[in-house]
Formats: sequence, C-alpha cells, structure tokens
Amino acid sequence: MRNILKRIFYVIYYPASLIWRKLDGIGSWKETKWWIDHVPDAIFTPATYASYAGWMQNQGMFSALFSIYLEKDKPNILDFGCGMGGLAPVAYHFVRHGGRYLGIDTDARSIAACHRAYPDLKNCEFYLTRDPNAWYPQEGIEPSKSGEIDWPVENNTQDLLIAMSVFTHLQEKDAVKYLNKIYEVLAPQGLAILSFAILRHYVNPNNDIYNFRHPLTPGWYTSYPACPECSIGIESQALEKFLNGKFKVLKHVEGCVTGGKHPSLQDLFVLQKV
Ligand SMILES: C[S@@+](CC[C@H](N)C(=O)[O-])C[C@H]1O[C@@H](n2cnc3c(N)ncnc32)[C@H](O)[C@@H]1O
Repeated sequence: MRNILKRIFYVIYYPASLIWRKLDGIGSWKETKWWIDHVPDAIFTPATYASYAGWMQNQGMFSALFSIYLEKDKPNILDFGCGMGGLAPVAYHFVRHGGRYLGIDTDARSIAACHRAYPDLKNCEFYLTRDPNAWYPQEGIEPSKSGEIDWPVENNTQDLLIAMSVFTHLQEKDAVKYLNKIYEVLAPQGLAILSFAILRHYVNPNNDIYNFRHPLTPGWYTSYPACPECSIGIESQALEKFLNGKFKVLKHVEGCVTGGKHPSLQDLFVLQKV
C-alpha cells in the first residue's frame, strides 16, 4: 500500500508541482519568483523530504531570524546538516558581498542536489562530510573515525552556525561532541541557532515520531528504539545542562510538534558563545 501511494505521489504530485511552480512564478513579483526558482527539483527525495509549505515556512522564519540577529557585515555562516540547502538562498542575502555560507551534510544526494540547485549563489558552498549518522546511511564513503569531525573550517572563524533538525538525530554522546565543535569553530560572541524536540506533557496526535517514549541517557529519549537516531527528544533540564557554561540563550522559540506554543515545528534556540 505504502509503495503504491509513493508511486502515485511521484507520478501525479511531482509533475503537478512543477507546473504549479511555473504558474506561481508567472503570477509573482520577480523578488518572490527568485525564491520559487531556488527550490531544488530534488526537494521530494527521501533523505531530507520537505513539502513546499514547510520549505517556505522555514525560509521565512530564518529570513527574519537572520535579519534580527546577524549584525556582522560579510559573515561566515555554517549550516551543519544542511540537507537540500534550504537556508542557502536565505544566507545568500547576507554573504553575497563577502563572507561565506558553507552547507555541510553527510548525505551525498542532498549535497549533489545543492550543487545542482544553487550554482548562481555567490559565496555559497557545500561540503560532503565523512561523518556518519546511523539514520542517514552513507554510500561509497570511508566514514570519519569516532571522535573526529570532518568539517573544513578553522576554529574561531564562524559568525553563525545553524543546525536545523540535526540534534534531533544525535544521541547525547555525539551531540556533546558536536556542541564542543560548534563552540570551537564559532568566533568570539558568535551565534548558533539550534533546533531540538523538547519534551512536554503532550501527545502528538498527528505523528508518533514526536512522541518520545523510550529513554536513552538521562533526559534524552527516542521514539524509535530500533534506530534511535531516527528521532531524538530531550527534556528541558537536560538541555540546560547540555548548553551550560558554553552558550547564553538569547531566544527560545517553542516547537509545536511537541506541544510548544509557537508556529515553529521544532524548538529553536538562538545562542551566543560565552
Ligand atoms: C532532518 S534533516 C534536516 C535538513 C536541513 N537542516 C533542513 O532543515 O531541511 C537532517 C540532516 O542532517 C544530516 N546529518 C545528520 N547527521 C549528520 C552529521 N553527523 N554530519 C552532517 N550531517 C548530518 C542528514 O544527512 C540530514 O540531511
């Protein structure tokens, strides 16, 4: 049944979406058409599947967040787990006159799609890391060794690091390793925008993936014990402990999929290196 639905999706929805995009572009201002033209054709591939609505919601939210928090001229922006690179067109507006956006991902199809979709975005680059993740199998790559992190950036150089829906795929040990790395690569007072699934007294009626019933380490949970990296949630207190001493919380936007009050799907934290 699932396979049939999948086929119907690709046979009907995908071609229809290409027509819809064309029509939407014709009816839009040039500035809006630019965003439509920078949706990758590979948006529906499984690794980092997104609906158009979700894609645009994210871009709108991050356009506002970057405009509010990113004050540095010619910033270096690092997008850890960039997926299909939805934040590259957002970051482009901040780096086109200098600085650099670098999207890093472990999924080869996503990085290939980024290279195809964004060749015209000046100062925007993408890097296929050797770092493994149990939920995102790599093909034909020698994974980096445990404890190593394969990011082509120097310490103290990045003004903004984003990790959107990435810590929701990391168990505590790896999450700590990456948080330390983020701290190292950020410039003094650099910013990080990280998303998490924060546990609340709430049962998501739409998607069981956001109901975290299986404990891992204290305060860290998964909804899918067969491969915990599929979906990881964290209690508020565990998050406070996790960030403690390294980052000051400038803003917490609550995530609605775990019962938070804001329209963001996951909880977003705007953090400053201390
Ligand atoms: C849910 S997707 C989110 C993609 C993108 N940030 C977005 O919001 O559309 C999670 C992404 O993190 C990537 N990822 C997971 N673990 C990673 C790691 N250790 N290093 C780099 N990328 C990783 C996956 O390949 C996937 O593209």
